Amino acid sequence: MRHLKLTQRAGRATRSVHTAVTRSMPAVVGRGMPFIGGWARRARARLCPPRGVAAVLMIAITAPTAALAQAPGPPTDAEILALVRTHCVPCHAAEPTHEAFARAPAGIVLETIPQIAANAARIMTQVVVSRAMPLGNQAGMTDEERDRIAAWIEGRNK
Ligand code: HEC
Repeated sequence: MRHLKLTQRAGRATRSVHTAVTRSMPAVVGRGMPFIGGWARRARARLCPPRGVAAVLMIAITAPTAALAQAPGPPTDAEILALVRTHCVPCHAAEPTHEAFARAPAGIVLETIPQIAANAARIMTQVVVSRAMPLGNQAGMTDEERDRIAAWIEGRNK
């Protein structure tokens, strides 16, 4: 049991480090660019035939950088619908499948994108800020999934 808890904590720590690294990526890449440019210029000045070699070097250097900078794209409606179906709809449906509820709790039904969108502000509060939802978190919603819901709501508000 003790071991299990430690492992879970380690997992959580790794995830938050991962999130921090992913978020800081554009800044790092941005700062890396002048260095790469200067380096390439120096390489071009030194090497002969200059153009071909420098071009190959540039590709070799920038290809991994570009791969690192790739963050997951903005969440799609389909992704959000799937998340909400797994984590919310057992309770928040016109006819809940969760045994504890005969009707949608607080009258909130989240079976379609328009229904989810209409409740976006409350979902943000409940899922991302207070984390009161999903109630009991029986299906094990992860921090990454909460982040995806937040990103989807923020994307709509732009
Ligand atoms: C196990 C059942 C259950 C699950 C799963 C669940 N909820 Fe709830 N939800 C409730 C109950 C019960 C309430 C009423 C709580 C209250 O009135 O204090 C509620 C209330 C809410 C409210 C209204 C709260 C307010 O005062 O604004 C929102 C919004 C909400 N849930 C969103 C979600 C979202 C989004 C998910 C999925 C990520 C989710 N819920 C998953 C049971 C559930």
